[in-house]
Amino acid sequence: MPINFHDPKNKLTYSTREADRGWKEFFAGLLNDDIQHAVDIGCGGGIYSKALFEAGIPAVTGVDFSKVMVEAAKTNCVDYSQIDFVMGNAHHTGLPDQSYDFVFERAIIHHLNDLSSCFSEASRLLKQDGTIYIQDRTPEDCLLEGTSSHIRGYFFELFPHLKEIERQRRHSSIEVIQALNSAGFTNIEEIKRWEIRQKYTTKKELIADIKERTGRSILHELTTQQLSQLAAFVDQRLPKTGEIIEKDRWTVWVARKK
Ligand SMILES: C[S@@+](CC[C@H](N)C(=O)[O-])C[C@H]1O[C@@H](n2cnc3c(N)ncnc32)[C@H](O)[C@@H]1O
Repeated sequence: MPINFHDPKNKLTYSTREADRGWKEFFAGLLNDDIQHAVDIGCGGGIYSKALFEAGIPAVTGVDFSKVMVEAAKTNCVDYSQIDFVMGNAHHTGLPDQSYDFVFERAIIHHLNDLSSCFSEASRLLKQDGTIYIQDRTPEDCLLEGTSSHIRGYFFELFPHLKEIERQRRHSSIEVIQALNSAGFTNIEEIKRWEIRQKYTTKKELIADIKERTGRSILHELTTQQLSQLAAFVDQRLPKTGEIIEKDRWTVWVARKK
């Protein structure tokens, strides 16, 4: 069954980590404009809303269609008065026209079927020359083989039926670029990058994380029994001792509103 973002059980799944330092450095390198107000659509627990503010954007509005996620984000960013959170849908946020310089959409588009509609909404929110930043994984990013740092690859090795689920829900780069074009975006740039997802001091911590399905919506497609099989499989594949630095490959698209 796909993840249910409205279930209180999943409240902490997208709020209990910090954006990686490497991501922060990469993002800082992209920011060459004077951005006053950003919108983080599909903000989850606000991890990146906070990171956008810490990167120097003075005001950030996080939007999510899940009340549970918005509550988690408010708790996560309780000390940041310049970040606010509202409930809204990526297709109809309810936010005002042409009021923002930057729209940020990380790890949301694989939950949406209609990309053109969500990018048109982003375009409506942006001022002229405003920037949209999208980050997600394409089918090719997801289905890279498993290694001691690309843990996700092991999931597909043990349960090949998950590959089809990823192929169905993930958008190809061509689809993303076409939808951006049709929503009126220009100067589209695509960047591929490996990102540290999490560092685990011990293998035990990673296994516990897998069993909890923390921050991994694909694991909601497995039964509890399959999840235990997967935990045992990953345990067997990894070295007995030593730190685990888990990485995922991502695609980032950056574009401008005409
Ligand atoms: C995988 S989480 C990513 C959270 C956050 N962007 C991050 O990278 O940590 C996807 C988020 O998108 C939200 N979401 C999914 N579909 C949505 C929609 N149609 N409108 C608004 N939010 C949506 C979910 O509630 C969830 O919080």
